[in-house]
Amino acid sequence: MPGFELFGNLEKAGVQEVLDSGVLMRYGFDGMRNGHWKAREMEQALAQKMQVAHAQLVSSGTAALTVALASAGVGAGDEVILPTFTFVASFEAVLALGAVPVLVDIDDTLTLDPLAVEKAIGPRTKVVMPVHMCGGMADLDALAGLCRTHGLLLLEDACQAIGGSYKGKPLGTYGDLGCYSFDYVKTITCGEGGALVTNRSEYYQNAHSYADHGHDHLGHDRGAEGHPMLGYNYRISELNAAVGLAQLARLDEFIAIQKRNYTVLREAISQVPGVSFRRLPDGGVENYSFLSFFMDDPQRAQKAHATLGENGVESCFYWYANNWHYHKKWDHLAQLKSLGRLPREVRDGLPDLAGADFPQSDHWMGRTVSALIKLGWSEGEVAQRATRMVETLRGI
Ligand SMILES: Cc1ncc(COP(=O)(O)O)c(C=O)c1O
Repeated sequence: MPGFELFGNLEKAGVQEVLDSGVLMRYGFDGMRNGHWKAREMEQALAQKMQVAHAQLVSSGTAALTVALASAGVGAGDEVILPTFTFVASFEAVLALGAVPVLVDIDDTLTLDPLAVEKAIGPRTKVVMPVHMCGGMADLDALAGLCRTHGLLLLEDACQAIGGSYKGKPLGTYGDLGCYSFDYVKTITCGEGGALVTNRSEYYQNAHSYADHGHDHLGHDRGAEGHPMLGYNYRISELNAAVGLAQLARLDEFIAIQKRNYTVLREAISQVPGVSFRRLPDGGVENYSFLSFFMDDPQRAQKAHATLGENGVESCFYWYANNWHYHKKWDHLAQLKSLGRLPREVRDGLPDLAGADFPQSDHWMGRTVSALIKLGWSEGEVAQRATRMVETLRGI
């Protein structure tokens, strides 16, 4: 999924324009900037591309999640339901607000199982946060139904899934709020950056203030702006936004390349007995950033992962044993190893993760191998990779 593979003149020209104007900050300095507002332009372009009313650019995907939660009033002691398979940023954002992450099982979509979510809903639950891992998506209809019934917020972490869709809507725009990451290894990149999108004006108003120290952004004198609320600094710089603006214009091109490469590999390995694929909910179209497949038992999945690497098929992941993406390695969360004292609500409210068991998640994660899809491969390289994958998996 790395947009960093394809950098061109568009990105360079955008950065040069910012440097020439001399204004690297997204707010203020109106007279000096020669009309360059890269962050604002990227927000407009992103909102248009995603067919939503509002987009707020911030400094990272983690910041986007934090600001999105804050914009909807999530705070100390509120519970946020999220999957056992995600990136650590999901629970970091929740903890940053003094809220409590509640992990629940995934299913064969590799993201939230709606039945497990329903069981985890309690009096303090405020948000359901599906994480569209590896370019696929959660069963959003089922989750939205639960959120409606229980009066909860649906926040989509689409950091890994920009360019995919569900029932005709871009991923990230189906829920009340959605988040993207534009870090260096995402489908499109700002170097570092992220964004939240929403159709809810009040969340957007809160988000753009909260992400910039609570400024209300009214008038043209930054020093004279009001502070309707406490905030923080999650701003993106104009340099990062300039790169992202150029990359966003190339999103369809990148997705088309990913789809072409993905399709060749998928068709090839679908011939191998014992290989099956991650389920997409009806109406879902992935962004083709990873080809995620199941082996019929965990031992074969581990062997497949190791042997693919030995045979030169690099960038395959066995998430079950990965340090960052699966709950089994989150000892720092289970033991709440924080530098300072965490809020009482977190210490008292965090479920006992050290003793927690997620057999259904283990079932699916233990069998999953995900192969990263790159943009820069030639046709020959894709064909060679397909042959190597088939030979390797047949030999397992
Ligand atoms: C699912 C998911 N959520 C959130 C993030 C955080 O994004 P960032 O690295 O921009 O903070 C990532 C980054 O890898 C991610 O994969």
